[in-house]
Amino acid sequence: MPAAKIAPSLLSGDFANLASECERMVELGADYLHMDVMDGHFVPNLTIGAPVIKSLRQHTNAFLDCHMMVSNPEQWVDDFAKAGANLYMFHIEATEYPQALIEKIHATGMKAGIAIKPKTPVDAVLALAENLDMVLVMTVEPGFGGQKFMPECMSKVVALRRAFPELDIQVDGGIDLTNIDVATTAGANVIVAGTSIFKADSPRDVIGTFRNSIEA
Ligand code: DX5
Ligand code: ZN
Repeated sequence: MPAAKIAPSLLSGDFANLASECERMVELGADYLHMDVMDGHFVPNLTIGAPVIKSLRQHTNAFLDCHMMVSNPEQWVDDFAKAGANLYMFHIEATEYPQALIEKIHATGMKAGIAIKPKTPVDAVLALAENLDMVLVMTVEPGFGGQKFMPECMSKVVALRRAFPELDIQVDGGIDLTNIDVATTAGANVIVAGTSIFKADSPRDVIGTFRNSIEA
């Protein structure tokens, strides 16, 4: 399995103090910072856009993993690249031309990823994965933090891991101490978590337990 990466979702952080929340998560052991970008159209919620990423970039050198829950993901590639995003993760359900979009993202110097919603079959992304830096198997319907983990999504992680032993496979949604082993046993090595990290008494311990589960 490739190296463990823990990516706290800032969606569960204090949006009025995002820079200090990012710094706090890095100090607590985060490898990546997961930024949930929602447009109120692809998902029924609104969050942040490139201007916020640009501002944050003035305060942190951390890897900004941008999860683009947006329609027309082609529209924001250049803005996010200029803002300082490291990885541009678009949804396969949001574009008709995923290969062209991967090339557009790579041309900017960002890493490229594809996310799939719980009801989306893995086949579409299996055919594209060799050109990707990461695949995200959603374990809740995208749009909100604090939902319940869907274990039925794990068969997609297993299929991806079998086909791509070195691929970064991310899971996102409802991950906590009760189900982390289910996700890592299936083959996930990049763990996104909002509620279970930010609401923990010891976020450092939760991050450490997630890392141990991947490395076990
Ligand atoms: C949901 C987002 C997730 C969310 C995870 O649409 O993509 O990143 O913030 O939060 P929890 O861990 O609370 O499910
Ligand atoms: Zn996310």
